[in-house]
Amino acid sequence: SPVHVLIPAAGSGRRMGADRNKVLLDLLGQPIIAWTLKAAAQAETVVWIGVICQAGDRPTLETIAASLHLSKPVIFIDGGTTRQESVCNGLQALPPEATRVLIHDGARCLATPDLFDRCATALDTCPGLVAAVPVKDTIKVVDANQRVKTTPDRESLWAAQTPQGFDVALLKQCHQQGIEQGWSVTDDAALFEKCSLPVQVVPGEETNLKVTTPMDLAIAEFILKQRLG
Ligand code: CTP
Ligand code: MG
Repeated sequence: SPVHVLIPAAGSGRRMGADRNKVLLDLLGQPIIAWTLKAAAQAETVVWIGVICQAGDRPTLETIAASLHLSKPVIFIDGGTTRQESVCNGLQALPPEATRVLIHDGARCLATPDLFDRCATALDTCPGLVAAVPVKDTIKVVDANQRVKTTPDRESLWAAQTPQGFDVALLKQCHQQGIEQGWSVTDDAALFEKCSLPVQVVPGEETNLKVTTPMDLAIAEFILKQRLG
């Protein structure tokens, strides 16, 4: 089940409040993006990695990737203003032989190679999938004045992660449709859903957090220390 992987890393990390893109921040002696790249490259099913980045970060990212001596080809693609635009640029940059793609956030540096492989294998039997975990909190739907409207049954709620996997031709069509209709979404699975295409949940990992705030960085360090013993 060979897959190409696109890694959106073209954000600015505004919520982290650091002096640079959060994927460049140090986590136990290596930049966040280095952990992400190593996990993706170690997955047996991954044949190619495209890192989507801001032009200004590109030289730094190229140096980081080169220093890792990864066993898979890594190429760099210019990102856009939104994550949606960044992924769209990534899809255009896939080589012609790419038929199946995993999209994985650069900021999710704790996803394991096994999770990449399980998503790639699941793509054999469905055209769209999302790694996800059961929601632990009770979720409230509120109106503009923060008045609670409803409480969805927690049993039916899953927290979406990445990797998210797709048939390349179908995901390209969904992105095109998204541009034409002006849809604004926060993940690729949402575009698939809006196009009435099926998206399957693949059990994710509780430790697969998205490093978003300084607290997330502290938790990631804790998890990684435990993992490395
Ligand atoms: N991303 C991207 N292009 C953008 C915006 C985000 O490739 N224009 C990437 C980020 O680099 C990150 C992933 O999408 O790896 C998930 O986005 P998020 O966690 O929101 O990262 P940032 O947008 O960088 O953070 P913030 O929203 O706090 O500014
Ligand atoms: Mg963002």
